[in-house]
Amino acid sequence: MKNKVVTRITGTGSYLPGHIMTNDDLSNIMDTSDEWIFSRTGIKERHLAKDETTAFMAAEAGKKALEDAGVEAAEVDLIIAGTITGDYVTPSTACEVQEKLGAVNAVAFDINAACAGFMFAFHTAHAYLQSGIYKTALVLGVETLSKILDWKDRSTCVLFGDGAGAAVVCADGEKEKELSEGNGGILAFEQGSDGRRGMALNCCGRKNRNPLTDNGWIPSYVSMDGQEVYKFAVSTVPVSIQRVLDKAGLHVEDVKYFVLHQANIRILQSVAKRLKADIGKFPVGLDHCGNMSAASVPVLLDEMNRKGALEKGDKIVMAGFGGGLTWASAVVEW
Ligand code: UT7
Repeated sequence: MKNKVVTRITGTGSYLPGHIMTNDDLSNIMDTSDEWIFSRTGIKERHLAKDETTAFMAAEAGKKALEDAGVEAAEVDLIIAGTITGDYVTPSTACEVQEKLGAVNAVAFDINAACAGFMFAFHTAHAYLQSGIYKTALVLGVETLSKILDWKDRSTCVLFGDGAGAAVVCADGEKEKELSEGNGGILAFEQGSDGRRGMALNCCGRKNRNPLTDNGWIPSYVSMDGQEVYKFAVSTVPVSIQRVLDKAGLHVEDVKYFVLHQANIRILQSVAKRLKADIGKFPVGLDHCGNMSAASVPVLLDEMNRKGALEKGDKIVMAGFGGGLTWASAVVEW
């Protein structure tokens, strides 16, 4: 019997900016309505950063996760942030968080996988921990999407929000047992990418502006073919979840909660239907947070953790999907 290192989530944290923008607030500044936004998406309001930076929100979420886990900043040896909205091209958000937390012993870097960013970061941390390279990771999903939105494009700007979530992930070195013995932790994961369909959800970066190519470039914002992304989500996510359950030797009925990226309530309903799962097992955070891309999953996980919804032994599926296109699912025993 092969021994494996058990990697567990031992603490969670989140931070939402203080300013709440309701659908009615939006309808006062653009041609939209609470009726359109809520009926199409399930979103009622979202938090928007005013003075908060991406790194500030991530560090606040990280601090709470460390407190929850009972881990000192100096014990963290790996920080990975899933984000597409860092404050700087360099330093990375993870390096900024390292500095803010005083996590002097950590290696820190970001991952760009858009709405699957937290899950990609989580899986990367898991792989490092499983290999024995590191023992204690702080995994972050953080976005200030409001700075890359076109506030004149009602088809995108009403959908998104700002925020940060974090999880401490630890290698359970003293209890290296066979996972199938029910020792908990991360039981299985799977992920994928399809760059061929990447332009369905894009935000252009800087273009060449040197003396050879001065092309009058001006910044552009998030652009989305909503229906393409919707079709991608409802077809790919159930398959990914089924695959990860098969890997873990579990069935849909064994899962207590499906903690999915929060893009649209209709996507959650469609995934539940395709999996033949009870929609009550799909917690909702988008009503008060909108779509926070990489932050959606860890913020929702933290809200559930703090209200005591997660009990030891619960099987939880987490899944992210979006720009890239990217997707990722994991099964975790709490
Ligand atoms: O996080 C990454 C993953 N992202 C997603 O998963 C997003 C997936 N896509 C979706 O959730 C949906 O496609 C949307 C919510 C983005 C859009 O819903 P839809 O049912 O596909 O609407 P639509 O884009 O087809 O727009 C329908 C109508 C259009 O008007 P006409 O052309 O029918 O007259 C739009 O101009 O709704 C209009 N519209 C709006 N009206 C009021 C678009 N945005 C708005 C708005 N308020 N904010």
